[in-house]
Amino acid sequence: MSLLDDIEKLQAKALSELEQADSPDAVEQWRIRYIGSKGAVREMMQRLKEVPREQKPAAGKAANALKNTLEDAYKRRMSAAPTPRRVSQRPKVDATLPGRRRPVGHTHILTQTIEEITDIFGRMGFEMVHGREVEDERHNFDGLNIPAWHPARDPWENFYIDGRGDLMLRSQTSTVQIRTMESREPPVRIIAPGRVYRPDTVDATHSFMFYQVEGLYVDEGVSMADLKTCLDQFCKAYLGPEVATRFRPSFFPFTEPSAEVDILFEYDDGSTEWIELGGSGMVDPAVLEFVGYDCEKYTGFAFGLGIERMAMRKHNIPDIRLLFEGDVRFLHQF
Ligand code: PHE
Repeated sequence: MSLLDDIEKLQAKALSELEQADSPDAVEQWRIRYIGSKGAVREMMQRLKEVPREQKPAAGKAANALKNTLEDAYKRRMSAAPTPRRVSQRPKVDATLPGRRRPVGHTHILTQTIEEITDIFGRMGFEMVHGREVEDERHNFDGLNIPAWHPARDPWENFYIDGRGDLMLRSQTSTVQIRTMESREPPVRIIAPGRVYRPDTVDATHSFMFYQVEGLYVDEGVSMADLKTCLDQFCKAYLGPEVATRFRPSFFPFTEPSAEVDILFEYDDGSTEWIELGGSGMVDPAVLEFVGYDCEKYTGFAFGLGIERMAMRKHNIPDIRLLFEGDVRFLHQF
């Protein structure tokens, strides 16, 4: 009889599928498909109505047996150990791989340059000192013999700090000359590297912020010859023994006489050019007097050199902005 056959087939199929269900999801799908409220067993029960009356008892019995068998099988399956989810065969961590190294940086080319410069002057007996980047007019101007009417004090030439009296971002490291001499007696032999600020329009050779290195030597009998020798020695130590230097007459309110320091730079094609490194001169007696030094007894020289300019010369860097942009593709070359 066909219904009984169908029941038998359905049971065999259902039991074998349950055996193969390999995840909690698959078991649940099986439950819905066979013993759920719209499942195959329920469908079978519906079909009992069509069975002729004399066959009904046998068919009903078979259908009930099917229902019980499948429900029991399901219960057994659920009470057994939970079906493990299929896990990836690959281990999550491969402990045999080498570790990932963090990239290690190095000092910025400007820092390297400052270290090199202070090292050379250190060998000549100069001690490194640091001033302040926020200064007052006393140290940036008054002490340096730059009077109130001087155009260098113009607000358009400086970064004054609004509402803070006479505070400003220093425009030169010469401030450290005054701060040092105010706090100690001669002999003084210092060098002071650091940032200075001027409202210059930024281009390949100018920036609103750049580095200078200040030098000051005050003692009995210091002469212009000492200044020239000192800077010439420095340039040869930093740029090479073949480098020539030149002192051009100039003017600074805090030195007398004053001179610009130039170096002769030779290009790869053999052509040459004088490049200005900075200013220098003999400390003006008015400055020595300002800090209370006996200007009859002591003399001194001072200089202020541009650090970027030296680094750019030495390493063939065409644009000052490269030094401040922090692009590692540029920086890692040094
Ligand atoms: N402070 C001067 C400048 O910034 C340079 C300088 C320093 C000149 C020391 C003479 C002596 O231009």
